[in-house]
Amino acid sequence: MPLQVYNELQTYNDFCNENLAVARISELFALSLGHCTIHARQIGIAGLVHDIGKTLIDPAILYKPDKLTMEEFEIMKTHTKLGSQIVFSARHIPKEIKIIMANVCEFHHEWHNGGGYWGVPAGWLPGYVSIVAITDVYVACRSARAYKPSWPHEQTLAYLTSLAGTQFCSGIVDSFVRFAGNQENELMGVTAERRELESCEQKD
Ligand SMILES: [Fe+2]
Repeated sequence: MPLQVYNELQTYNDFCNENLAVARISELFALSLGHCTIHARQIGIAGLVHDIGKTLIDPAILYKPDKLTMEEFEIMKTHTKLGSQIVFSARHIPKEIKIIMANVCEFHHEWHNGGGYWGVPAGWLPGYVSIVAITDVYVACRSARAYKPSWPHEQTLAYLTSLAGTQFCSGIVDSFVRFAGNQENELMGVTAERRELESCEQKD
């Protein structure tokens, strides 16, 4: 297999693994907040597909190792609306979970204070969107990127704490930090599984 193709597949696998981590941690976080198992599972599934709109973004932009230009960033931002459209157009998804999935796709980059990609009224975001959104940031920080190494758990929690009152409401940040502290072994298990999977892929 040509090296370039393998590298693209490796990048795609990283993309999938991160979405799996967002799904799993979102579900666990939702359970810790008192959501019932069914609702927590729905939030986890929404976490799995939250970036599905990226499948319609030009790979040259999606996987660009350098900083995006303003024009490229505007294109990247559309993955939220595209994801919502993909979910809404899908058949055979029950209406209740379709709304959760579509809202998570569309609003996971919106901020508690009204900032973010497109801007929504301050304090408007549904709780389940915030659950996936803060988990997404946690997983992104813990993951290595072309432009940064994987951040340690404690550094990531400190960063999330710094976002309280702006990107996230203070309550969800406090809850996530408490949850992550209690579930650190479980969260690290996700990372360990990823390392194991990546090591198997490199041997193939
Ligand atoms: Fe996203």
